[in-house]
Parts: sequence; C-alpha cells; structure tokens
Amino acid sequence: MMLCLQTAAELAQKIEEYKQAGLTIGFVPTMGYLHDGHLALVSQSRQNCDVTVVSIFINPAQFGPNEDFAQYPRDLARDKVLLERAGADILFAPDTAEIYPPDNSVRQLRADARLSAVACGLTRPGHFDGVVTVVARLFDLARPDKAFFGRKDYQQLRIIQKMAEQEKYPVQISGCPVVREPDGLALSSRNKYLSAGQRKNALALSRSLTEAARLLRGGQAIAAARLCMQNILENTPEVKIDYLEFLRRPDLSRLTDYEPGNTVILGAVYVGATRLIDNIEV
Ligand code: PAF
Repeated sequence: MMLCLQTAAELAQKIEEYKQAGLTIGFVPTMGYLHDGHLALVSQSRQNCDVTVVSIFINPAQFGPNEDFAQYPRDLARDKVLLERAGADILFAPDTAEIYPPDNSVRQLRADARLSAVACGLTRPGHFDGVVTVVARLFDLARPDKAFFGRKDYQQLRIIQKMAEQEKYPVQISGCPVVREPDGLALSSRNKYLSAGQRKNALALSRSLTEAARLLRGGQAIAAARLCMQNILENTPEVKIDYLEFLRRPDLSRLTDYEPGNTVILGAVYVGATRLIDNIEV
C-alpha cells in the first residue's frame, strides 16, 4: 500500500524509520502529470533500492514570469493510481509552504555557471537555479541513496549531478533513457497542450535530431547537421526554433567538430505556444 504524505515533517520521520531499519532509498522527483517516462524511473528505483519515494511538486521557482506555471497540467488522483500500480512506496505531494516555508529558511542555490551557459540556461534565465534549489530541498527531506532523472532533460541531469557533487550529497544520480512514443515523440507532460495537428508537427523535433545524428555519424560537419535540422524545423508549420546546440558530453561545452561518442545535440522548439525539448546522444 502506497503512503501519501504531504508534510516535510511526515516525510522526514518516515525516512528516518527506513534509515534506522537499514533500507536503501530510491527517489524520483517529478512535477506530476505522470507518463511512462516517469514510470520507467520508478521501475529503475524499485530495481535498485529497497524503498521508492516519488515527489510531485510543481516548483514555482523554476518557471519564468511568462511561462506555464499556472497552466501546468495537474491530475493528482490519476498520478496516485499510476504510482500505486507502479509499486511506489511513498508519494510525497507537498504544498508550496512545505517546500518553501515562509521563514525563508530554504537555501537558495545557484546552478553551475558553465553548465547553464548554454541551451535552456540561456533561453530560460534562472530556471536551473530554481531546479537545483528545489532538488536540494527534496534531497534534504528524502535523503536518497539513489535518485533517478530522465535523460530527456539532459542539461538538467548534468546540472543536478554537479550540484549533488558540490553540495556533497551522498547520493548516486542515474540518468535514464528518453522514453518515446512509437513515432519518436519524446514523452513529456507538456505534450498534453498539443492539438492533434500540433502533435504531428512536433515530430519534426525528434526527426531533425535523428537526421542530424545520422549526418554526423556519416562524416558530415556540425554545420551541415545544424542546417539540416533548421531546414526540417523551419519547414514545419507552427514550429519555431528556440535553440539548437551541439555540445560535448559531459561538460556541455560548445563543439565545433563532432566528437564521436561524446556529443549531445539538444533542441528546443515552440510548437504553437508549447515549448518542447529533446536531445540525442551521438
Ligand atoms: O524534471 C522535472 O520534473 C523537474 O525539473 C524536477 C527535477 C522535478 C524539479 O522540479
């Protein structure tokens, strides 16, 4: 039976009991409106840890003033059913005052400057500061041995790994493969915003990444791969490029030449008003 907790104190107490019993804790932080990508993280946690804790918290600190915080999809009742079925042990679904108490006691962290100097770090200023701040707060409460994040948010994954290292959290952070629909669309809670026509147009992002990867592997230069992505995306109705980045793994520095096995192509596009991200590691 999954336990649903809402307060920081309840979670901290339950975690202490698990620790006393010598159990390992796996943690899957989410913003809810769960899909199979999240459930794959839960499954990884269950395979690797004694206890799996999932959090659902739509973190206001990681949304910009003109972003979709207010509209972000929410369905806690459905999420509970999915998590229960997936075998999570604890669902932690706090309200904002539990995460950010009014006494301002929560440490405000800054995301690593280098890792956030590209991609979403540029087009969503302050976003990753909000992400590392909430993840650190959640780590303080859940005290996980292992934490699981999706590689779809590749830059986020790297920034959280760096934060955990700098803040000396004794946690191992795993990046789990991107989960896609059969036609290639990366799963995202924001796919819910798309109309049927937009969903079809959104496929241009994964297609452009696959094509760019194919060109790089075939010996073409980054400039050619970028041009190919631009052609695909700019010729798709309703699609507007936010950024395309060709970066070195794992340090996220910009590449001028393809480095086989060490390259990640990150793309962000607007499809209508919906912003989607995706990436491919080549
Ligand atoms: O990836 C997300 O859903 C969020 O950025 C996270 C890691 C749960 C922090 O709010």
